[in-house]
Amino acid sequence: KYLQEDDLTQECQALISTLPKEQDWVMSHLYQYQGFWHPIRELQGVLSCQHHFQARDTDIILATNPKCGSTWLKALAYVVVNRKIIPLDDNHSLLSKNPHELVPCLELRVYVDHQVPDLTELPSPRLFSTHLPVESLPLSIKETSCKVVCLARDPKDTFISLWHFANKLRPPNDGKLQLEEAFDKFCKGVSFLGPFWDHVLSSWKYSLDNPNKVFFLKYEDLKEQPKLYLKKLAEFWECPFSSEEENNGVVDEILSLCSFDNLSNLEVNKIGKLSTGEHNEAFFRKGEVGDWANYFTQEMTEKLDEICLNKFQLCGLKI
Ligand code: A3P
Repeated sequence: KYLQEDDLTQECQALISTLPKEQDWVMSHLYQYQGFWHPIRELQGVLSCQHHFQARDTDIILATNPKCGSTWLKALAYVVVNRKIIPLDDNHSLLSKNPHELVPCLELRVYVDHQVPDLTELPSPRLFSTHLPVESLPLSIKETSCKVVCLARDPKDTFISLWHFANKLRPPNDGKLQLEEAFDKFCKGVSFLGPFWDHVLSSWKYSLDNPNKVFFLKYEDLKEQPKLYLKKLAEFWECPFSSEEENNGVVDEILSLCSFDNLSNLEVNKIGKLSTGEHNEAFFRKGEVGDWANYFTQEMTEKLDEICLNKFQLCGLKI
């Protein structure tokens, strides 16, 4: 389900006529707005949520870089934050709904698809996600004391994940986007919500400037020490695990419920579809660290390493 230029509000139509434009990885175009590349459907939602979203102090925003583990983080956040009202049993909503349905994305599901009719009726704490970079977050997110988790991932694994995902979404008649072409675009920063490094860096700096408000998390850290990071996240969300819960194995139970193996084997995630058209199975591929090594040539490795050295390491960020 893709919005076309004719479906846009006048404001958005006027805006896109002024924006730099590039061919998208999937179909149609990407537009560069506030420094980052957006597909048209999403851009409409960005404007709407910038105009209208009113954050509450109690909101929790998952501000994830695309393909960095948003689905996993949404599942974990939903289960942890709601565990007092949604017990961990066989009827848990995560067993019948994809995490993207449970934690709606502001600039798509909320402000383009209008799937949450009245945001003011949602009980606190409200959980939302966004792929927006800090530069484009609605002002109220920055001005209230809502909590923001920024999620990043190794650039090479993110690129491979994004390339596979784009190919799953491409209309079959358009054929596959070749790895080399996608890599060239990624290195130029022309990717969904790219440049990847600018997105990561701004969220990392945002977390350094606002340590009580922003939690900067890396996919690799969550993979390596899931228990440690889930406990840190629960504390950050102001719903820490009690010692009774820890002794009863609740943390392990949540990690196992939200694990790649469990989620990817659920019926809903094997055959279900989001209302926006994506097949749920597209969000689960391998779920591993280091898969890039199966695809990268020496030349690609050197090129991306050099970009990242310039962008990240000189600023002190290890990713
Ligand atoms: P791969 O393509 O490397 O397998 P996003 O959710 O932001 O779209 O990110 C998708 C990536 O997260 C995919 O990576 C996907 O397989 C992985 N993923 C999805 N669910 C996961 C889970 N429960 N645990 C770990 N990784 C998961």
